[in-house]
Amino acid sequence: MRIFSGIQPTGRKHLGNYIGAISQYVSSQERGEGIFCIVDLHAVTVAYEPAELRERLYDTTAILLAAGLDPSRCTIFRQSDVAEHTELTWLLSSVTELGRLQRMHQFRDKELAQRELVSAGLLLYPVLQAADVLAYRAQEVPVGEDQREHLELMRDIARRFNARYGDGQEVLVVPEHRIPAVGARIMDLQDPTRKMSTSGSGESGTVYVLDEPKAIEKKLASAVTDSGSEVRRSPEKPGISNLIEILAAVRDADPAAVEAEFADARYGEFKAAVAQDVVAYLAPVRERYEQLRADVPALEAILDDGAGRARVIASDTLADVRDRMGVGAPRAARAGRPSGAVDTVPG
Ligand code: TRP
Repeated sequence: MRIFSGIQPTGRKHLGNYIGAISQYVSSQERGEGIFCIVDLHAVTVAYEPAELRERLYDTTAILLAAGLDPSRCTIFRQSDVAEHTELTWLLSSVTELGRLQRMHQFRDKELAQRELVSAGLLLYPVLQAADVLAYRAQEVPVGEDQREHLELMRDIARRFNARYGDGQEVLVVPEHRIPAVGARIMDLQDPTRKMSTSGSGESGTVYVLDEPKAIEKKLASAVTDSGSEVRRSPEKPGISNLIEILAAVRDADPAAVEAEFADARYGEFKAAVAQDVVAYLAPVRERYEQLRADVPALEAILDDGAGRARVIASDTLADVRDRMGVGAPRAARAGRPSGAVDTVPG
């Protein structure tokens, strides 16, 4: 089983990202061959600072490693290091419907939010994302519910490619979306009707992976609770329900078990217990992160090694795609030459 996911090198990672995505990556190492891509090419589709992007890429790499991704068991790499992603984006753009890209929710939201240039890159963002996954013929993509539309598009792109060029064969694998069961819905602590995010109610509603224990305790102590006094999940109690979900996720327990344990507890007691376990969950990650982040050459070495392994897989897919599309020299003529080799003009 090959598992692929991409993560943005932007923004500070918070508890929702950690439970919903990063910890899923870590556990997927047990189930199959994990390939994890830090998507710096996606990050350039909106306004950004070039020097910042490099720093945030190292931050993200160090967080993934601190969380437990093990470069000897999975592949971690930087998207822009593997040129096959951009070539495949172009080739796949010819089997992608323009109107569909224009209707994508994320494009429309970002288009509205963008005060300056709405770039063509923003429109092509989902095609690059499709190329990311399809280049590895991955079977499974662990990402949140918010990526549903992107997953559907990449599945359609793979199907259309196979129908048009596959000659009855599945040249590109149609991947499955894997949405995490718990933690997919970690909500803002101050406004539990919206997802935890970096742009939500502000600092106090979002627990960051790198927050100090004191900050975590403070945020959980001031988390919004609901009327009533029972620690129980219910649609009328979004605040308490969220805290139950959080505690269940960090303990890797069932939410019902959390309810049972705190059946007689007051809200204050319960919130203190959640804080204690969230601190215990994140503290070791923060400590490992500090060490890893300090050694940039070591991070570069890991990324470089990952890119080498990624390229071996992606270049094989690209050779097939080019061949099927009738682009470049036929595959047989390329035998024995390193993939991606440029033809030299004879004579
Ligand atoms: N668009 C994804 C996000 O914002 C990131 C991403 C890029 C991705 N390429 C991917 C996710 C490939 C899964 C697979 O979270």
